[in-house]
Amino acid sequence: MFKWAKWFEKDELDREIVSPNQRVKCRFILKNNQVFYAVTKDGKTVVNYSRLTLFLCGEEPLADKLRAVRVVKKSHDETFEMLWGEQHFIRDHYEEAAFYITESAGAHRIFTIRFRVYDEGVAFRYEIPAQPKFRQVTIKDEYSEFNIDLNSVAWQIPAYQPDRYEYNYEKCLVGSLVHSVHTPLTMRTPTGYYLSIHEAALYDYGSMTIKLDENHALKSDITPLSDGTRAHVNLPFQTPWRMIMIGDSCLDLTVNRMMYCLNDPPSGDFSWVKTIKFLGIWWAMFVGEWTWAPGERHGATTEHARQYIDAAVRLGITGLLIEGWNDGWEGNWLENGINNKFMVSTPDFNLPEVARYAAAKGVEIVGHHETVGFVDNYENQLDDAYNYYAANGVHYIKTGYAGSMMVINGRREFHHSQLGVKHYQKTVELAARKHICLDIHEPIKGTGIERTFPNLLSREGARGQEYEGGALNPSHACYLPYTRLLAGGMDYTNGIFDITNSIKRISTTLARQIAYFVTIYSGMAMAADRPFIYEERFPEVYEFIRDVPTNFEITVPLIGEIGECYVVARKDRNSENWFVGGVTDTEARRVHINLDFLSAGVYRAKIFSDSDDAHYRDNPYGISIVEKHVGKNDFLELYLAPGGGFAIELIKIQ
Ligand code: NOJ
Repeated sequence: MFKWAKWFEKDELDREIVSPNQRVKCRFILKNNQVFYAVTKDGKTVVNYSRLTLFLCGEEPLADKLRAVRVVKKSHDETFEMLWGEQHFIRDHYEEAAFYITESAGAHRIFTIRFRVYDEGVAFRYEIPAQPKFRQVTIKDEYSEFNIDLNSVAWQIPAYQPDRYEYNYEKCLVGSLVHSVHTPLTMRTPTGYYLSIHEAALYDYGSMTIKLDENHALKSDITPLSDGTRAHVNLPFQTPWRMIMIGDSCLDLTVNRMMYCLNDPPSGDFSWVKTIKFLGIWWAMFVGEWTWAPGERHGATTEHARQYIDAAVRLGITGLLIEGWNDGWEGNWLENGINNKFMVSTPDFNLPEVARYAAAKGVEIVGHHETVGFVDNYENQLDDAYNYYAANGVHYIKTGYAGSMMVINGRREFHHSQLGVKHYQKTVELAARKHICLDIHEPIKGTGIERTFPNLLSREGARGQEYEGGALNPSHACYLPYTRLLAGGMDYTNGIFDITNSIKRISTTLARQIAYFVTIYSGMAMAADRPFIYEERFPEVYEFIRDVPTNFEITVPLIGEIGECYVVARKDRNSENWFVGGVTDTEARRVHINLDFLSAGVYRAKIFSDSDDAHYRDNPYGISIVEKHVGKNDFLELYLAPGGGFAIELIKIQ
């Protein structure tokens, strides 16, 4: 029999872990062979008694005849640096307790449940060490309850749907949830706290969705594999961290950094990683001017690429995405994606020539791999395809998984299943070895692994601007900061200035398109419209896109309500300059911004805001551009039109 050194052996245990500021408390309880936890803040219940266990295939659940044999406590306070992102330095400050559990009969298996209690919330995970006769485990179910007041309000999108995470957020009572929903699952309790359930460090496991279980409590629903199980793992194994982020306000959630704290430091030297802004041979396809497939209107030609590279130089943008350059886009590309070839160009596109031209002009090519979810086809070519880009000096790739399911080992699997998770991870690690950064569309949700693999610069993972033309409404971008963006940056494809285009009519004002560069962070930020629109129609508004950084020192949320509005200020990492962005739903708003986040001195403010008569439907181009000098004691009053927004550049001049 395998045993840990025992400090004690108890069949009942009740211990409390208290956050550094004493406000958040987590109770661990072992009773009647079952493990429970509960969370309070300021003495008020946040998570009621909730059960924790794993059900293993072919084995008894890890729940019988349990004894606690050891509790190991730890205090931790460390500030670490993020190579890039919304916040340069993050404080990782928690109280930890690891509860070592053993079965006192039967197989005598051992496992640990580790809790970390932060001022900003609670996290826990299961750890199963390697042990004799118990080296591989198939997880039938993970039973992690989050027993939150059913009268809490939730903002959610459904899981297991064909468009993955690309749905409109809906508000409902927790008690009326019908489907499994994705995380981050953001909620407001009747006591007024804002919570978001999410996970950190998702590797080699199905991603966690949440559903109401038969006991009418929220519970983890780990995305299954096609064989019906949740994961096959080798021991030792630890699940991802389950997090309950807790804020006094919804804005608190937007700066909750637990997810990064719960990931490991970089796994090597990533000093070569650089955030970037990029143009794309892209939106011209969405508005019907060009095509992905070869033909008369083919977008990805050598000639177009040269023209866009020249435009990027003039516009002060250092990257260019080229989609539709490879063999496989003919016909219905969504159905034919199984034939995509990632080393074969169309006859009118010459990658080495384009790459040489770009390098000579100081522009980085952002390569593209649309897999349509045919992972087997992609993995067969993966090494060669990344080598091909690397050999041509390409340091950025946008990947895509547009199918409604993945095909892995010949079977249809969910993108967010264990096999999907493993595939995405494989691409991130391979890309890292080749010094390539990734922007993954139709990705697995963010769980903070970009702390460990900083070459994962961005992902999509929510409805983005390509849904404009009817399927996006102005409130969508007012939900994202409190929901999807808690999982990290997003490539929302900002900066569409040709709002009234006839194919994809945009449901925002012009000012709001530049606000997105501040309100929706992305380590790879796309200026998504065609360059001639920026140069010929709105050169002055474009200047904001040119100037806004992609790497920030600090982020200060200023004003917000979920689904209604969001105003945030961010300081550039490489200068004293600040950038402020604000967005509203269909309601017009006047907001006052206190500039006390500035340091002492004089700033030249350039304010791009909706004109008084602007409206996303009737007058989307109505914009006011004002310059003035301001300091930290000043206030600014801004107008946001229906569907509108504003962007402010604050350049330190003294
Ligand atoms: C969906 C992606 O989100 C979009 O950006 C891309 O252009 C298409 N798939 C084609 O790859």
